Amino acid sequence: MKRDLVTIDDLSNAEIEGLFALADQYVADLRGQTSVAPGFVLACLFFEPSTRTRLSFEVAMKRIGGSCVTSASREDSSLSKGESLTDTIRVVGSYADAIVIRHPVEGSARLASMMTRVPVVNAGDGGHEHPTQTLCDLYTLWKEKGRIAGLSVALCGDLKHGRTVHSLAYALARFGANIVSVPRPGLELPDYVVDKLRSSYGTRPERASEPPDESFLRDLDAVYITPQKSHQLTLFTDPSSNDRQILPKIAKIDALYMTRTQRERFDSGDESRRRDLVLDSEVLRDERLREAVVMHPLPRVDEIDSAVDADPRAAYFRQAERGVPIRMALLSFLLGQRPLVKRGGKRVGEKADAGGAPAARAETYKSAAGIRCPNERCISRVEQRFVVPEFVVKSRAPLELRCTFCERIVRPAFVAGGGSSVFVPAESPEARRIALEDLVAYDSAEQAQLAGKVRTT
Ligand code: NCD
Repeated sequence: MKRDLVTIDDLSNAEIEGLFALADQYVADLRGQTSVAPGFVLACLFFEPSTRTRLSFEVAMKRIGGSCVTSASREDSSLSKGESLTDTIRVVGSYADAIVIRHPVEGSARLASMMTRVPVVNAGDGGHEHPTQTLCDLYTLWKEKGRIAGLSVALCGDLKHGRTVHSLAYALARFGANIVSVPRPGLELPDYVVDKLRSSYGTRPERASEPPDESFLRDLDAVYITPQKSHQLTLFTDPSSNDRQILPKIAKIDALYMTRTQRERFDSGDESRRRDLVLDSEVLRDERLREAVVMHPLPRVDEIDSAVDADPRAAYFRQAERGVPIRMALLSFLLGQRPLVKRGGKRVGEKADAGGAPAARAETYKSAAGIRCPNERCISRVEQRFVVPEFVVKSRAPLELRCTFCERIVRPAFVAGGGSSVFVPAESPEARRIALEDLVAYDSAEQAQLAGKVRTT
């Protein structure tokens, strides 16, 4: 079965560690790897601007002996003539051995993965996820700090639209790190991300009511997200304490992950909010940041003062450099050219090492009729003509669905059995008796009535 990397959950923790080990091997001799994937062709489809991600993928593919074809903008592809992404992927997948795609619409990489038999790698789908940046980020933490579990990582800046932040938050939770969220006011982690952190990884966000007043961390919105494992809770949180008592417990931050404000993804209203967070040498004097590595997916705009570049804690250019070996490792794995090996030399098995990734995909609900994803930036809305809405069933009672493409959560108001002429409230006992394969869910009574259903009480 082919493997894709659409969300960071597509790799188990053991596989991610296997990729680190393979990347380490490659770093030792970057030019000596051309026998890994000779003759393989990678298609790079970049429908949004990119410097690092695209070039590092192209270099990685060449260093393992393959070659690349690239479409570097929407304008130079047939998307600009009105072709659907669905058709583009069907065709490109018939030419190349793997596809890397960056696209402005959320869920586009998931759709692409469904449309082709070759591996698809998500190089950023709108404001949703960017899992290969997370591989660079985790690899950097692992190299610089020697571990990930138990680290306290502050995610700073635009946490709302930052796709790198979303993928990284899930991975940190899975590896047992603590997340401290430091958003630019108004650009907090979206609800669907916090919900997934809570429901899929058992993390526990806690909000402090009063920000501390020292330096950079005065902007701390102080949401601590900790894996719900007793040995992890001790670092920042105390279950018996009230919010205020939590704050003085920020003893130490191991990594500051800065991000750019993603103005290109702003909704109306985002712009009027407060100033950007800026990290400068003064801020780095904070005792709690003494051993903090400073990371950034880049490009940096103003959020890290250039004077910080000379500080040994500034890791962002080392982080970018690691993009090539980690992507070499990923491509050689996805193309089936190198197995992943655990520390100690054992092969990473498919089943035994699944631990770390959330449980196998739950039941799905799929129907051309009834509800659609509420997110207008979701590919299931943008390519309505080609995509049948599909959701993971988070819970049956109450009925909660998560869009397979962009992961937004929907709580339908009404449901009907496919063969039945009546619809009932989604929370009613009758609703629960309808088999999932027979169920049609509706946003509103009007939507059900338009579909010819009659309401019962
Ligand atoms: C990021 C992205 O594209 O999401 N860049 C990258 O891939 N390294 C971050 C950004 O654009 O701010």
